[in-house]
Amino acid sequence: MVNASAAGGNVESWSFMYADAPDERWGTSVTNPADCSRIVLRRATTDDARALSGFAARSFQETFGPESKPRDMEAYLAKAFSPAVQTAEIADAAATVILALDDRTSGLAGYAHLVARNADIELKRLYVDAPWKGRGLAARLMDRIFEECRRHGGDRLWLTVWVRNHRAMAFYEKVGFRVSGSETFMLGDDAQTDHVMEMAVPRAVARPSG
Ligand SMILES: CC(C)(COP(=O)(O)OP(=O)(O)OC[C@H]1O[C@@H](n2cnc3c(N)ncnc32)[C@H](O)[C@@H]1OP(=O)(O)O)[C@@H](O)C(=O)NCCC(=O)NCCS
Repeated sequence: MVNASAAGGNVESWSFMYADAPDERWGTSVTNPADCSRIVLRRATTDDARALSGFAARSFQETFGPESKPRDMEAYLAKAFSPAVQTAEIADAAATVILALDDRTSGLAGYAHLVARNADIELKRLYVDAPWKGRGLAARLMDRIFEECRRHGGDRLWLTVWVRNHRAMAFYEKVGFRVSGSETFMLGDDAQTDHVMEMAVPRAVARPSG
């Protein structure tokens, strides 16, 4: 595998790593995607940065690559998902990165990244690996996200989503987000329109005793 330790590494190397050689330990390794119970959620530490870097870049490329110019994609991957950037993001005191791990394989099945700089909390990223889509894992991550928002004293959760990302929008609407505005997102040199979506953080549901 290409060494990915340098933040500003050669773009061709990044592209090769993301497209063809996801990290051996963390790549897609799901054998029975129907069983969500074997997924464990935990907070990421900086030790997870390198693995998350490979997974996050691959997920981003799989989601947006087919509708992007390779040069714009490569520029964005190098800027956003290097191990050094992931390390800094995980170490940010305002950030919470939650990993969804398959307890049989230790492979990553998804992740969420929140940033809480005030009572308005940003859901910066939410990704579920392809075999786990439509299986309830995204909803489980969302519950954990709400829990983290309450822990941070957050009232409002917001995010941006590409206007052409219909599946993600359908999911966000299903869990309670509504479109409240728009923003420009630069993918390399390509200026794209994102919806801003937001919702009130739901209160904790009291569990029945006994
Ligand atoms: C966004 C994401 C986390 C949602 O998880 P998921 O497991 O796909 O979510 P669900 O299947 O529970 O919900 C998606 C909904 O979209 C619907 N859907 C599927 N394909 C669709 C499409 N092309 N257009 C519109 N709706 C679509 C599904 O039917 C489902 O609705 P339903 O439960 O009423 O049937 C996941 O799709 C993902 O990781 N996508 C790639 C990364 C991404 O886009 N992240 C968000 C960046 S802002």
